Amino acid sequence: MSSITLGEFIIENQNDFKYATGELSRILSSIRLAAKIVQREVNKAGLAQHILGAVGDINVQGEEQQKLDVYADNVFLKALANRGVVCGVASEENEDYIAFNNQEAMDGNYVVTMDPLDGSSNIDVNVSIGTIFSVYRRISKPGTPAQLEDFLQPGTEQVAAGYVVYGSSTMLVYTTGNGVHGFTFDPSIGVFYLSHPNMKSPQDGKIFSMNEGNFHHAPKGVREYIKYCQEIDPASNRPLSARYIGSLVADFHRNLIKGGVYIYPQTPKSPTGKLRLLYECNPLAFLIEQAGGKASDGKNRIMEIKPTELHQRVPFIVGSTKMVEKVEEFIKQVETPTT
Ligand code: AHG
Ligand code: MN
Ligand code: MN
Repeated sequence: MSSITLGEFIIENQNDFKYATGELSRILSSIRLAAKIVQREVNKAGLAQHILGAVGDINVQGEEQQKLDVYADNVFLKALANRGVVCGVASEENEDYIAFNNQEAMDGNYVVTMDPLDGSSNIDVNVSIGTIFSVYRRISKPGTPAQLEDFLQPGTEQVAAGYVVYGSSTMLVYTTGNGVHGFTFDPSIGVFYLSHPNMKSPQDGKIFSMNEGNFHHAPKGVREYIKYCQEIDPASNRPLSARYIGSLVADFHRNLIKGGVYIYPQTPKSPTGKLRLLYECNPLAFLIEQAGGKASDGKNRIMEIKPTELHQRVPFIVGSTKMVEKVEEFIKQVETPTT
């Protein structure tokens, strides 16, 4: 691992950013700070529940303990509100977007979308979880409160995106459109170090990730693709491997490093898919494209979809380019049957 810290890396690379230097650095520094606080809480989640009292209980300070995703939401919101660069945040945890109302924040040129705690069903079972974020330049006039239109921009307009994975170690991975860089947290001194410079998605892979409980409810093209993955691959003389954690961030992170495809299709229960365009799919789509991979809804490039709602859901196919293209091919084939 190099000895370059995230803080140093941000400063060294801020000239790559086409807007005012320093602004983006401040946003990333806020995210870095919030990530450290959340990782500390995540690491003692088991303790909190079994020793310090269950969620909903009153803790020793007399405060009611919050669910970790609400806690994470508050930590990130607070960190972002206080730097005078971000004027508003749209989060999974809040029905509406939050427009910061202090003048300093209203003067900010950016909005952030985020999933403060992704994979929350895995918290109680000691499995990796994450945070996902995305940064856009505002459309509305600086000096005024953030508007809905600031958040409903296509993913192609992102100026930065990233995630934090709270796993066997905590990592922060981000892009500002100049490649993807990963930093590993050293908890003994509270510093993120550059551990994965210039991450690249393998063009092809041997892992497919889908909740196969949805197999019979997935569109035919996706079913056909999964069957294809289950057949013997002549190159390796075995089928592809199914790996599904149920935390999008963790599944994405593994596939980014090892090569693979993640699929969350539309189902009768979630007719437009389950994952949210603004704060799950777009940031990961930006990252995977920067790493040389691909993100699709089965037909269209994720980042070109024009959002119409904050919590809009889309089918999501993301990962190694050849694998995503193969899924698209299967989907196309069943839609245009040959005679
Ligand atoms: P969240 O915890 O932020 O609500 O996200 C859960 C998402 C995602 O992390 C994961 O990949 C997916 O839901 C799992 O869904 P299924 O349980 O339907 O497979
Ligand atoms: Mn999520
Ligand atoms: Mn979440």
